[in-house]
Amino acid sequence: MSNISFEAPRGMRDFYPEDMVWRNRIFDAWRTAAEHFGFQNYDACVVESLELLQRKSGEEVSEQIYAFEDKSGRKLALRPEMTPTLARMVAAKQSRLPFPIKWYATAQCFRYERMTRGRKREHYQLNMDIIGSQDVLCEAEILGAAVYAMRTMGMPDEAWRIHVSSRALLGELLAASGIPEAQHPAVFIALDKRGKISDEEIAALLRAEGLDEGAIEKTFTLLGVNSLDEAAALAGENSPAIANLRDLFATAAQMGYADILMFDIAVIRGLSYYTGIVFEAFDAQRKFRAIFGGGRYDSLLALVGGQPTPAVGMGFGDVVVGEVLREVLGDAAPVQRSGYCIGYMTDAERPAAIALAARLRAENERVDLSLLAQKPKHFFGKAGNSAAQFAVYLGPDDVASGVAQVKDLQTREITKIQL
Ligand code: HAM
Repeated sequence: MSNISFEAPRGMRDFYPEDMVWRNRIFDAWRTAAEHFGFQNYDACVVESLELLQRKSGEEVSEQIYAFEDKSGRKLALRPEMTPTLARMVAAKQSRLPFPIKWYATAQCFRYERMTRGRKREHYQLNMDIIGSQDVLCEAEILGAAVYAMRTMGMPDEAWRIHVSSRALLGELLAASGIPEAQHPAVFIALDKRGKISDEEIAALLRAEGLDEGAIEKTFTLLGVNSLDEAAALAGENSPAIANLRDLFATAAQMGYADILMFDIAVIRGLSYYTGIVFEAFDAQRKFRAIFGGGRYDSLLALVGGQPTPAVGMGFGDVVVGEVLREVLGDAAPVQRSGYCIGYMTDAERPAAIALAARLRAENERVDLSLLAQKPKHFFGKAGNSAAQFAVYLGPDDVASGVAQVKDLQTREITKIQL
């Protein structure tokens, strides 16, 4: 036993109380936002059947699955994402669900990633999905809820952007360049690797998919399109994908977050199930990995064996947003002070301290009662570092008079309390 490390396994995290202050800030904002936008909470087990999670080759996530066999030889895995599980759960009850449904979950996910900044082998993800509607209002609602979550965490609007594109649009443009639809999924997966591998390597992947040099060149030219108007000029104003994107930008303006959205044709997404609008959020300086990502996936329900059903959703990880928040807000963990710390000088004052704690707790106050008699300096030092708003320290005179001082740890104001 002597050689066991105190470190969590590589890529996994422990959360000490000071880490939980940050994590709770993120989780609280997620829940607040999802509830605020009318999403219903659901959950699922972390272990999933490997069959559901196994994918087409080429997708990065397919090589990252933590898979194992249980003692009965079942092939299982820790989920790398929530979406296949959600599709399974919805397919299982499809005839009884009141579509469209809006569901959210905070799911721990596991991926055997190469460890880089912003990428761990375990992370939590807020998932918000709307299933059963083709309306672009769904995309707008999901992005609106994500914006609300970011604002609730204290992230200023100018510190980040949501990059939006559409696989349907890129599909139209690829088709217009003579690249047949059958090749599009592989082209999407290859193009998503841009920035991670060289353009030469991407060209090699495209060549392996059967694209000739002319088609490869056209594909790279398409990635140079840098506005929706430019894309519209290529696709034509009658393009359904362009109309869809314009609708999203107009709805975002009505909802008050159009300034955060930007068209970016380079957003493709690494998962193959997306079919329409896709999006990824980044810090404005592009120093970090994606904060969240998602899009429309109208074929997944049918793919897992359910009835064809349109769907759109997003995954919002806790790791990158935590890094960006610390960068933008500074390292000091924000403290929301509340409740009391109660201390006492000797064991003679202890019963009075216990009685005061019991009374305040019965009044619904949060109380941290000292577990031992302490000198005032020690008690107030610890209370100052705690999350309590008030400190009450009982000495013999307080107990004798039946009145003690209450110190507001933020304003230093002193009031009195009856014992
Ligand atoms: P994803 O882009 O693979 O999408 O992940 C969504 C978010 O999860 C990322 O933007 C990032 O914040 C976080 N994330 C992913 N992998 C890691 C990692 N190894 N370490 C830290 N954070 C990570 C999906 O998972 C889709 N299922 C989202 C979705 C839901 N699409 C529709 N509905």
